[in-house]
Amino acid sequence: MKKRILTGITTTGTPHIGNYLGAIKPSLNLATENPESFFFLADYHALIKNKDSQNIKESVKNVALAWLSSGLDTDRSYFYRQSDIKEVTELSWILSTITAKGLMNRAHAYKAATAENKSDEDKGINMGLFSYPILMATDILIFNSTHVPVGADQLQHLEMTRDIAQRFNHLYKSIFNIPEAIIQEDGKVVPGLDGKKMSKSYNNIIPLLSDEKTLKKSIAKIVTNSLEPGQPKDTDNCTVFNLFSHFASNEEQEEFKAAYKEGISWGDAKNKLFEAVNSELSPIRERFNELSKDNNLVNDLLDAGAKKVKPLAQDMLGEVRELVGISKIG
Ligand code: TRP
Repeated sequence: MKKRILTGITTTGTPHIGNYLGAIKPSLNLATENPESFFFLADYHALIKNKDSQNIKESVKNVALAWLSSGLDTDRSYFYRQSDIKEVTELSWILSTITAKGLMNRAHAYKAATAENKSDEDKGINMGLFSYPILMATDILIFNSTHVPVGADQLQHLEMTRDIAQRFNHLYKSIFNIPEAIIQEDGKVVPGLDGKKMSKSYNNIIPLLSDEKTLKKSIAKIVTNSLEPGQPKDTDNCTVFNLFSHFASNEEQEEFKAAYKEGISWGDAKNKLFEAVNSELSPIRERFNELSKDNNLVNDLLDAGAKKVKPLAQDMLGEVRELVGISKIG
């Protein structure tokens, strides 16, 4: 079977460096060798946490531009908006009827949300959050993806996707490929300003498409310890070093390590990080500024993308409907 790569980014808020390192960059690298690449904007997923329609639209546009500015070639890949493929919602429902509730109870995202609640476990938790992994499984299975590049935090969702696919195949017929996750950077999670996983929900992001000044300001906000200049510093568990490692060669990392040992000041360390990040991001920023001038570009590309993928989704859904008995009565 041909390799088919698929990944999505949830369209809540501003695209950030975590999206870029965790999804965009590795996926585009893979796409150079694999013409069968599917990249999409997960706006159904975004509704779970975001009730601001304007913000959703804005985010769809910016995440799309982030992909395009980073080099996505729409002639050589499938690029679309999840909600344009309405077949996704129908398949998601069908898959929810074969998914054990117990499996969803174990989802980290749901468990983390209930753990924060005290007397009422389910306070503020909507059904979208609870069944999030089923929707994600649908995204992957509807196009029979074989490989899914994701951040380490998404591994459990991939396991669940495999479970759901196997269950359907077992109950009806083997039609779903069992997909594999591709995890970047030895499973390292991209840290945000406070050292936790970079995420809109934690309010700790470094934006991908900001101007130089804003980028510098964001980097200045990274939390460090209170060691003084001249005091040797540890690169393990250091957010500044960790981020640097994503943008620098091994040699540059060794040099930076040596500087840590010699007691580089946090100010200087952050400047070095800024330079590394900025040199990679400035061409992307330039392309973004260029592409943003064309107001119709994103809509046009997404319309064309929807046209390209819809028939594939319809084929898969048609087969599933037939298998489960939602089809013409013979
Ligand atoms: N859950 C992913 C995230 O938040 C986004 C996503 C939705 C996704 N559907 C997907 C990723 C399918 C890969 C495949 O990062």
